[in-house]
Amino acid sequence: MLSFVGMGNMAQALAAGFIASGKITGEKIIAYAPNQEKLKKNAGRIGFTPAGSCRDAVLKSDVVIMACKPYQIMQVLEDLGDALNGKALVSVAAGWDFAKYAEVLDPSVRFQFVMPNTPAMVGEGVLLFEEKNSLEKAERAEIMELFGTVGLVQELPSHLMGIGGAVTGCGPAFVDLMIEAYADAAVKYGIPRETAYKLVSRMILGSAALQLQTGEHPGILKDKVCSPAGTTIAGVAALEGAGFRNACLQSIDAVMKR
Ligand SMILES: NC(=O)c1ccc[n+]([C@@H]2O[C@H](COP(=O)([O-])OP(=O)(O)OC[C@H]3O[C@@H](n4cnc5c(N)ncnc54)[C@H](OP(=O)(O)O)[C@@H]3O)[C@@H](O)[C@H]2O)c1
Repeated sequence: MLSFVGMGNMAQALAAGFIASGKITGEKIIAYAPNQEKLKKNAGRIGFTPAGSCRDAVLKSDVVIMACKPYQIMQVLEDLGDALNGKALVSVAAGWDFAKYAEVLDPSVRFQFVMPNTPAMVGEGVLLFEEKNSLEKAERAEIMELFGTVGLVQELPSHLMGIGGAVTGCGPAFVDLMIEAYADAAVKYGIPRETAYKLVSRMILGSAALQLQTGEHPGILKDKVCSPAGTTIAGVAALEGAGFRNACLQSIDAVMKR
């Protein structure tokens, strides 16, 4: 049995993806969240079992997914008391890494920090697994397989989880900004707004798929679009002039300073 503590945006994406994959059925997922009305509505839509108490949900499960807000976790752990003892805990809360949990959990709890991102909602997420963990080997492999149903699973050493999360967790917002900006440009020259979003998002999806599938260096793919004295190289020069690459680097610097 798998339980969720918290059933917000991220937990819903994970639960829906897990069930859709067929690797686990809805009857084997139990979830708790304080707003019971909202929880029951989500249970009906996604197919998991709603729980009236956090402790009950945890006690009934072997693997617990901690998916409430980071600032709520300390209180949740205190309220749970010994209910977590002997269980596997997978936490997706930003900042709650192995070292932080090791300070507060009972030694009988096996645990793993995972950093997901919002594209997991459509099965295209990136799931960063902290290398340092205390799960059993087979149990971890099974959990990785389950998370693999909503995106790419990538293991990272503890000291790279911060930068990994900055790029993959915050990155979707930066790409959304780019989608909006290029759609504005399309609208400026006459394309209707809805069509503009569709064209731009597909262009970005396609460019990413081409890079992933060919494994080509992005510079080579860029060169293939730029003919001598052509239009694309004029656009590339304009982006370089506006400091596009530097803006991308600085966005991550800003995240890392927080
Ligand atoms: N969204 C992202 O892009 C993203 C990316 C990486 C990691 N994460 C992590 O995922 C976690 C959840 O984020 P989210 O975006 O899904 O947030 P969210 O939509 O606000 O969901 C938070 C959930 O926690 C529940 N909750 C509140 N108090 C609780 C308590 N005392 N015990 C149990 N559950 C409680 C809420 O229930 P009610 O609605 O009933 O109050 C809600 O279901 C966070 O720790 C975040 O760091 C999110």
